Amino acid sequence: MNPMKYKFKFGFLTLLILLLFTQETFAQTYVPTKENLEARQWFAEAKFGLFIHWGVYSVLGDGEWVMQVQNISIDAYERLPGFFNPVEFNAEEWVKMAKDAGMKYICITSRHHDGFSMFDTKLTDYQIVRSTPYGKDVLKDLAEACKKEGIKLFFYYSLLDWHNDDYFPRGQTGNGIAGRKEGKWEDYITFMKGQLTELLTHYGEIGGIWFDGDWDKKNANWHYEEIYALIHSLQPQCLIGNNHHEAVKPGEDFQMFEKDLPGKSTQNFASKAEDIGELPKEVCETINGSWGFNLQDRKHKSDKELIRYLIKAAGYGTNLLLNVGPMPNGKIQEEHVRSLEKIGDWLALNGETIYATEGGMVPPSEEIVSTQKGKKLYLHLLESKANWLLPSFPEEISSMRFYRSGKSVKHEITDYGLLFHVPEQEQDQVDTIIEITMK
Ligand code: GLC
Repeated sequence: MNPMKYKFKFGFLTLLILLLFTQETFAQTYVPTKENLEARQWFAEAKFGLFIHWGVYSVLGDGEWVMQVQNISIDAYERLPGFFNPVEFNAEEWVKMAKDAGMKYICITSRHHDGFSMFDTKLTDYQIVRSTPYGKDVLKDLAEACKKEGIKLFFYYSLLDWHNDDYFPRGQTGNGIAGRKEGKWEDYITFMKGQLTELLTHYGEIGGIWFDGDWDKKNANWHYEEIYALIHSLQPQCLIGNNHHEAVKPGEDFQMFEKDLPGKSTQNFASKAEDIGELPKEVCETINGSWGFNLQDRKHKSDKELIRYLIKAAGYGTNLLLNVGPMPNGKIQEEHVRSLEKIGDWLALNGETIYATEGGMVPPSEEIVSTQKGKKLYLHLLESKANWLLPSFPEEISSMRFYRSGKSVKHEITDYGLLFHVPEQEQDQVDTIIEITMK
């Protein structure tokens, strides 16, 4: 063999192996950057965010799954963008509403399962600027308003797509939608990478990418290693979460739970207890029963239920991402705006016991949760009763007082645990908070 040819061949092969090896090890040994670790810390302390499900489906007022629920054909659904004209949309109003509610970040659907992009993407015409009469990029406005108000912006991004032919082979859902064709999976991956690159280069600093839809095709090769590496190379601080309902995968920065506090399983897709890890956590929940705008859904949770969910989430050491589904005119329904105001009022008085806390040492139950910050332990009593006993309280107490009135709490450490008394005038219908300072 010609030695030169041999040398070249050998050099090329080494390079190839080296390249493959670095890619592989990078995927397996994702080491978050300093910025990323700081962002995780910020996230864990933020505790409360606004989820926004908005798309052309809002026109039909039947939730974001309407295309699959009503088996709307591709042709028919493609008429919806033509009706989408949210002239009353005001990004600053939305961001102010979130901020006044005590929320620290917003996560908005950039593209949901219907495949319609709510931003100005070059990769398809099936997007807000090119195919709606509104013709403006709502994510751009939102990014600017968020920046102005110091609210971090996250993008929800659907892995599942009922409209794109390249989402093929198809998954478990949307199979009654007429007009879907057979395309190429590799092109779909390229399309997603392109869109994510746009989202991470055109809208300033992004708090995180919130993936959803993995469950539609459990055995698909989503190319997560490359996609996650791409996101972190474009914006190292950008937090990656994936609603796959499993233990976190390499490259993810936080763990999410849908409609269930960590370890609870009221939903058939709940994460298994053994899958709960150490990364910052977030639970998402709706105000009524729907994510996208639903005209008929009147099952709005009460202010008390919502505030308590936030408290419980904090007691379980997780953020709450609370959802609104804006209407096709760009407004958020009044009931939800009012609920958010009420939560904001509560947080303005009691936020110290929620923000930047961790789940406290008293294990959460239906009647009590606890949050903790250094030497301070906050008991959140969710039941109105006078006499309480906390078994095996491990710490020595320096002081114990009612958080709101400041009055001290009569208590005693007994062989059975910490005994204390809550007089009726201190009992709060939503949450009676006791602050314990430990020695
Ligand atoms: C589910 C739904 C989706 C919604 C998401 C929010 O995955 O499929 O419509 O966006 O939950 O958590």
